[in-house]
Amino acid sequence: MKLSARSKKIQPSATLAVTALARELKSAGHPVLSFSAGEPDFTSPPSAVSAAHEAIDRGETHYTANSGIPELKRAILSYYKAHFGLEYAASELIVSNGAKQVLYELAQSLVDPGDEVLLFAPAWVSYAEQISMAEGKPVAVDTVGSGFIPEGDVVRRAITDKTVGMIINTPNNPTGVVYGPDTLATLAGLARAHDLWIVYDEIYERLVYGAAKHHNILQIAPDIRDRVIIVNGVSKAYSMTGWRIGYALGSKEIIARMDALQGNLTSNASSIAQWAAVGAIEGAEPEVELCRAEFERRRDMLCGMLSGINGLKLLSPDGAFYIFLDVRDTPIPDDIEFCRRILEDKHVALVPGAAFFAPGFIRMSYACSEDDIRDGASRIKSFIESL
Ligand SMILES: Cc1ncc(COP(=O)(O)O)c(C=O)c1O
Repeated sequence: MKLSARSKKIQPSATLAVTALARELKSAGHPVLSFSAGEPDFTSPPSAVSAAHEAIDRGETHYTANSGIPELKRAILSYYKAHFGLEYAASELIVSNGAKQVLYELAQSLVDPGDEVLLFAPAWVSYAEQISMAEGKPVAVDTVGSGFIPEGDVVRRAITDKTVGMIINTPNNPTGVVYGPDTLATLAGLARAHDLWIVYDEIYERLVYGAAKHHNILQIAPDIRDRVIIVNGVSKAYSMTGWRIGYALGSKEIIARMDALQGNLTSNASSIAQWAAVGAIEGAEPEVELCRAEFERRRDMLCGMLSGINGLKLLSPDGAFYIFLDVRDTPIPDDIEFCRRILEDKHVALVPGAAFFAPGFIRMSYACSEDDIRDGASRIKSFIESL
């Protein structure tokens, strides 16, 4: 069978690959602790689960409007008004099978062959793959030297006459960094000056800790509304990764293009999952806060346990549920080798930073039990000390 050149270029998701390997080792009887997951370990909120049951009982088991049921659209639009003071019309919103599909549809709708798209590295694995699938060129702007925050001058230097847009992700996967108003204003200014679009992925917006505050970029620069597409979903805030509900808010024009693509790709997201998302958005605020507070407690515990380990450096993350460890000064500065060795020797699964354009770093998720965090941190310590 002849495979397409395009399909051969697609790299499997590195994070999913580590999770699968860890699962395999575990089922073969190895005492594996996996810190590779990109999902909360809590169960979905009761309001989501009961809304799904009720939807099934009512027979809501058919195709829905391609871009989402009106009830979910209303819930999302009210949420954005209440949380960010942003007003959108139903025609400026599309619901898809997870934010991942939203981002894919955006890449297909915004990127022509040869177009350059700025990413701020370390950057989430799938952005670059999706841009490449659209035959565009992902351009990773390094933020390692500036505390994982993009600096205006550095970003400006990466802009060429082929640059069409940038993807901003805050709170950030994999670093946990939350961009402040000044950074957002700088990036908005660059988009304005160079006529770029911004895909604003704020899927971790509910997970911020301590004094950190998340801002939507349109609260900082409302005048760029037409060039911004907001990406969000219920996966992370409501512990609903398996339901696959994500959405985009943007101009009518871009949403119509995504709608046309989605209509030929998957049609609507699952009718039952859409009802579950209504239940979550309208009824699960207490659970969101409980999970956020629990993540904050785990973050503090993990940072405390990992600080002071010889050669290992970390920046306490302000958001999401990842900690990005700098292993460049340990006896194994190569992140891929570090992850391979610690999985073999100590049965600890971590994701190499190379998967995020950040060699020399590793990502550790703290979306797991307190016991696993304690055990994992002490295995990491004894691994480094044994080298
Ligand atoms: C930064 C970021 N964006 C988008 C997604 C996709 O989320 P989902 O497709 O579950 O909505 C993820 C999931 O890991 C993510 O980390």
